[in-house]
Amino acid sequence: MSDDQPPQATAAAAFNEDFTDLFENAPCGYLSIGPSGNIFRVNVTFCTWTGFEKSDLVGKRFQNFLNIAGRIYFETHFAPLLRMQGFFNEVALDVVGRDGRLLPVLVNAVEKRSSDGTVLFVRMTIFNATDRRRYERELLGARAAADDANKALLELNTTLERRVAEAVSERLKTEDQLRQAQKMEAVGQLTGGVAHDFNNLLTLIIGGLDTIGRQLVKLPESYDLARITRAREMALHGAKRAAALTARLLAFSRRQPLASKPLDINALIKGVADLLHRTLGETVAFESVASAALWRAMADQGELENVLINLAVNARDAMPNGGKLTIETGNASLDEAYIASITEPVSPGQYVLIAVSDTGSGMDPATLARVFEPFFTTKDVGKGTGLGLSQVYGFIRQSGGHIRLYSEPGQGTTVKLYLPRAPADAKDETIRPVVDASSDGGPETILVVEDDAELREFTSSALRELGYHVLQASTGLAALEALDANVGIDLLFTDVVLPKGLNGRNLADEAVRRRPELKVLFTTGYTTNAIVHHGKLDAGVNLLGKPYTFETLARKVRAILG
Ligand SMILES: Nc1ncnc2c1ncn2[C@@H]1O[C@H](COP(=O)(O)OP(=O)(O)OP(=O)(O)O)[C@@H](O)[C@H]1O
Ligand SMILES: [Mg+2]
Repeated sequence: MSDDQPPQATAAAAFNEDFTDLFENAPCGYLSIGPSGNIFRVNVTFCTWTGFEKSDLVGKRFQNFLNIAGRIYFETHFAPLLRMQGFFNEVALDVVGRDGRLLPVLVNAVEKRSSDGTVLFVRMTIFNATDRRRYERELLGARAAADDANKALLELNTTLERRVAEAVSERLKTEDQLRQAQKMEAVGQLTGGVAHDFNNLLTLIIGGLDTIGRQLVKLPESYDLARITRAREMALHGAKRAAALTARLLAFSRRQPLASKPLDINALIKGVADLLHRTLGETVAFESVASAALWRAMADQGELENVLINLAVNARDAMPNGGKLTIETGNASLDEAYIASITEPVSPGQYVLIAVSDTGSGMDPATLARVFEPFFTTKDVGKGTGLGLSQVYGFIRQSGGHIRLYSEPGQGTTVKLYLPRAPADAKDETIRPVVDASSDGGPETILVVEDDAELREFTSSALRELGYHVLQASTGLAALEALDANVGIDLLFTDVVLPKGLNGRNLADEAVRRRPELKVLFTTGYTTNAIVHHGKLDAGVNLLGKPYTFETLARKVRAILG
């Protein structure tokens, strides 16, 4: 027991607490209610909480100071309960204060009866439950939050598995696309390298056969001569086919020299319509749907025409029993979201769309996944080389465009080509005049720069045969020396790829600096180098693609020398 515990009344007096004070200022409200139901006594604490005077309360029924719901409950539940068992405990009610504010309370009531059992009065203690209600509310809020968190967790658990599976499959798909892209890249480089070397060899072969041909016509007719002439023609035919094949490989490896110009695609399609009709044959209908107000596209006209023929041939082969080929055009914008969904490096922006659709056999997914691979074909030996779509793919990519194939077995195929839109101020050059240059030789002096000795020799002798005066060099430095030592050089004919530091472009720049009147003609098999930026020709650059024939060499040189 502690010392400040008042053991008796005297001590209570010392603490200045008497029973009246205890009643009036206890930490709870006290009400006494007479048998008729009216309040006849109320303490100060209750008055303080509610703002009423004692006189406001005495003579009134307790229920009158409750809100409506409480009043109903009181009458229907608690009053009968009190009468039945003589008490009730911790009944939660709301007392309406003088200013209308609600006071949450907990009420205990007990009847005081006389010895014969009649009710004398009812004692009520009223506890202020403001804080408790607040805790309860907070508790309820916390419980609701906990329930929500629980539910979210449960939800997470059930969807987690699915979401992980989705993420993994998405990842696998991306990796697969990436692997596919890398494979195409590797095959492209390999193909490009092989094609480059073949071009040099074919230039030699075709050149040699050309020379033989020019000598043969000078010989008197004989049986042997006829045989040799036929053999030469066969060899030349084979070499030209090989050259065409090599060109397709170069196209696939995105290393063919391209001359991109603003093109009116609708006009271009009209231009090849006849050829397409003939390619497709009698049983396949052809329709072109030209979009109005079509933007102009930036592409190489000749190559794009080739692409359309290529696609038409594929469509024809897929429709052996007839069908329909439709070519549609339209303006298209590839947005960031679309770009993000593909692995190829395509810039977002404006494109001209050419959609080539057929009603043919279509392709299964396994075929569709491989169509761009060089030499992939489902056609019989001799029917297809499997280079058609490889070439289309390489061309479109090199042109800064994008290609998409849509196909299902039995549902036909649509090939969508997106070519970059030409800048608005570019001139329309779709209709280009064909200049038939002369192949005559002349007295001019030509400096031939080529590191491949055989090729250099072939080119030089061909030019000599045309009557030109020819000087030779095998490196850029040797060429500059020759330039300094000889005044009358009219044309520099140089390979783009040269060994020992100075490439063809550097050589030409330096040579023209020393001799501003000097004309320049480049030659190349492929070009990931200075002369062709991103596979496109610099403006004003003269280029003779390898392999070249005697005839094309003669024409080109004549055209440049004027
Ligand atoms: N329009 C099409 N409908 C159905 N299948 C097609 C279509 N286009 C291409 N293919 C399929 O894709 C394969 C590859 O086509 P691609 O053009 O590259 O080569 P190819 O036509 O077989 O031979 P090439 O074009 O070199 O003569 C074809 O063998 C064919 O299976
Ligand atoms: Mg094909």
